[in-house]
Amino acid sequence: MRIAPRISYTNPTIIELKGKSYQAFPEDLSLFGIRFKEIVDSVKIGDDAIVHLDLNLDREVSLNGKVARVSQNNFVVIFKEDPEIIAETVGKYLTDKIFEFKRCPYCGQHLETRVEVCPKCGMYLDFTKKEVVKITKDIKLGNFISKLVHEGKMDYGSLCVEEHIEMVGTSEKMKKVFSLIRKFAATDYPVLILGETGTGKELTARAIHERSRRKDNPFVVVNCAAIPSELLEAELFGYEKGAFTGADKRKLGRVELAHRGTLFLDEIGDMPYNLQAKLLRFLQEGTFERLGGTETHKVDVRVISATNVNLERAIEEGKFRKDLYYRLSTLTIELPPLRERGDDVIVLAKYFLKKFCKELGKTNVIDFSDEALELIKSYTWPGNIRELINVIRKACVLSDKNYIDVSDLDIRYENINLGEVKEGILSLHRHIENLEKELVKKAFIISGGNISKMAKLLEVSRPKVYKLIEKHNIGKIEEG
Ligand SMILES: Nc1ncnc2c1ncn2[C@@H]1O[C@H](COP(=O)(O)OP(=O)(O)OP(=O)(O)O)[C@@H](O)[C@H]1O
Ligand SMILES: [Mg+2]
Repeated sequence: MRIAPRISYTNPTIIELKGKSYQAFPEDLSLFGIRFKEIVDSVKIGDDAIVHLDLNLDREVSLNGKVARVSQNNFVVIFKEDPEIIAETVGKYLTDKIFEFKRCPYCGQHLETRVEVCPKCGMYLDFTKKEVVKITKDIKLGNFISKLVHEGKMDYGSLCVEEHIEMVGTSEKMKKVFSLIRKFAATDYPVLILGETGTGKELTARAIHERSRRKDNPFVVVNCAAIPSELLEAELFGYEKGAFTGADKRKLGRVELAHRGTLFLDEIGDMPYNLQAKLLRFLQEGTFERLGGTETHKVDVRVISATNVNLERAIEEGKFRKDLYYRLSTLTIELPPLRERGDDVIVLAKYFLKKFCKELGKTNVIDFSDEALELIKSYTWPGNIRELINVIRKACVLSDKNYIDVSDLDIRYENINLGEVKEGILSLHRHIENLEKELVKKAFIISGGNISKMAKLLEVSRPKVYKLIEKHNIGKIEEG
């Protein structure tokens, strides 16, 4: 678990070492320091450094530090500044980025608004405060967590950190998925994850990354459907200064940012056809050129891709390259839709109920009514786990009882699978009439049409028996 979050930071940066200035390319930034991607001549551990950063403030920021680690491909400068200065500069930048990404850097929790403390894992997220920078920097992790526990901001049970992604499931189908995740995490081959919307494709990709030898390096997401196709190539492979109008400085692509880590290509089915060839070459050789550049670069990246479209059909339609498909799908995980996961839907519903009630401080809501559970089980969940999460979260907010009832579950009537429910099929009146006829007929047969016996069996008066026989037009009447 990381004490201070690291955030990708790739603006070209001037660094002064022993009075000389160099341009260097950082990889990431944390409250502690900054990591540079390429080695600057003669950099040594212990050298004093001044790093000039562009942190979207109205001024350039210069921070004093010391070179703390030098390896073959990168080096790290640790900042020597007071917590107050770190809070105003790097702290502000990190905090803004966390809320721009809307994701807790420790546990991945989605964050809708700016909060001081992550509602899920309880870690401090406001690094603009010098006290937070100080404890984050000074206190060893164990003490840090105990402090939060003592303040009632975290309990050990809720501690969910990056390395341990919670993925719930007990069905045979999901046990198979978990086993594939473990097996695939041990390799470097591409993985293709297939599944309907909301089935956990991104979560699965992260789970593989977190269990792989790459877990301390970046997990970089590219959503091929969300980036306009003409920008996707530049986003993936980067560009050189002057590559096109507006390219006023060199920009590294996501492929480079994912060096030694994992690149997650979401919605791969939407990748433009002409870019697919370039991706294939990258997958085969690990090499690429930045847009507008001639130099060939090599990186060490594991590629995981995901889609909810049928790639085989896309191949037939000439929209997807067959050779790329074979390369991407060496290892494949198919995530079953929620409606095929048996009792997992109940396990997940209870899991999220507990989680959201805790988040909302509703300690009195403890369970679902039996009818609510039946509804959850018979609903077909077209939006899968994402839909389940939304429905349960809303129910937790709305319920003012100590349990969740059918009326709290905001689900679409047409997707309930309780057998065929056509108009009139649930008519109480018709069902009662039919049942009445059945019972009168049975009593008639058993008693051989004897009115007194029938009255006893049906527990009604003799005149009522006459009426019923007439109403339902049953057999011959024999006076007893
Ligand atoms: N097995 C699971 N246990 C707990 N949470 C899960 C599980 N599967 C998915 N989730 C949660 O459900 C939500 C949707 O998952 P995710 O974003 O990974 O799905 P997806 O398949 O990528 O969806 P889309 O196709 O819409 O992009 C996330 O909040 C994720 O954490
Ligand atoms: Mg997704």
